[in-house]
Amino acid sequence: MEKVYNCTNHSIAIPHVVRSDGIYLFDETGKRYMDLESGVWCTSLGHGNKRINNIIKNQIDNVMHAGFCYSTNILERAADSVLSVTGLEKGKCVFLCSGSEAIELARQMSKHITGKKQSMTLHDSYLGSYSSVTDRNRNWFILNWEECINCPENNNCNTDCEKLREIPKDISEFIFEPGSSSGFVRFPPKPLIQNIISQVRSQGGKIIANEVTTGIGRTGKWFGYNHYQVEPDMIAIGKGIGNGYPVSVTAINEQTAGELGKSTFRYMQSHQNDPLGAAIANEVIKIIKDEELVLKAGINGKKFFDMLGTLIDNISITDVRGRGLMFAVDICDEDTGDRLFKELISRGYIVGNRKSLLRIDPPLTATEDEFTEFVNELRDLLNCIHNK
Ligand SMILES: Cc1ncc(COP(=O)(O)O)c(C=O)c1O
Repeated sequence: MEKVYNCTNHSIAIPHVVRSDGIYLFDETGKRYMDLESGVWCTSLGHGNKRINNIIKNQIDNVMHAGFCYSTNILERAADSVLSVTGLEKGKCVFLCSGSEAIELARQMSKHITGKKQSMTLHDSYLGSYSSVTDRNRNWFILNWEECINCPENNNCNTDCEKLREIPKDISEFIFEPGSSSGFVRFPPKPLIQNIISQVRSQGGKIIANEVTTGIGRTGKWFGYNHYQVEPDMIAIGKGIGNGYPVSVTAINEQTAGELGKSTFRYMQSHQNDPLGAAIANEVIKIIKDEELVLKAGINGKKFFDMLGTLIDNISITDVRGRGLMFAVDICDEDTGDRLFKELISRGYIVGNRKSLLRIDPPLTATEDEFTEFVNELRDLLNCIHNK
């Protein structure tokens, strides 16, 4: 790339992608790559999904964008559909353009309603690329749950714990990322999360579930917070809901919608509540329901997790974690992680790589045969490395 500025801190591994189909990308030589990262976890239904493509074609032939003062039926249908899967049936939705924006809007809403200043999150959560969440030096309370992992009360933690007593009273919102932990796939203990939520809420703070990565079936349930038996006030949804198209949603519960309705809260950007994004989100949810992909993500997730587990050799691969179709494979060191990533690309397999970790998030439509092929290839690669 000469004129395109890449500031992602990721170098370009395949320079000319020309085509995509299902779990595969193809380069200009016709080489096939199995995409087990789902385009940074976005293509939940695989690339080039025919039903999504048809919805896009139909919608752009009707109306793709209108403006703040002009609405369309598809928006109401899509909002109803999103709310039905979140369990916030009586709430409301705002359609936006990225996961970062969905979180930003939820935070702005919380601050406006509560009048409180401090935000709270866990030490290892990723909340998007805006400086309002990356600069955590002022007006943030960060709870480090590292010690909770080995705490004997881990499954029985209670409000007498010193950690919980440290939480300030002026928390505007607790933003909870249920199980991705900055891509490292770690799962904060359920009682800890439940206790934080009841404490923050009892002091007037809002609860935001960051479901940008964990939502829309990825973890074997519709949303990651469903594993925690909690009810957020707001849910930030992104990535998988657009299957690669930049649409995201901030969903809010009935109470929050009522509070905002009585307030002077304002938020505007040119593509807010665009019909095209809403049509895509609506169809993604329909396809997931029609093809029972949440159920399948749970069933296949267990199978794929077991397959990955057979690769643990305590030489190169030291651990595997996962929930549904979200997996982290721990590699012995960063150099080996980097090497595996590059050699997998040259063999035609795309995974995520972050430090000494491989991230594997196949589309919800991935088949057992496809995953078996990948695991066999990775096993062969490990054997080649060890036998050299
Ligand atoms: C957990 C989590 N939250 C928020 C975001 C931000 O989403 P986006 O990149 O669409 O702005 C990401 C992106 O990777 C994410 O993984």
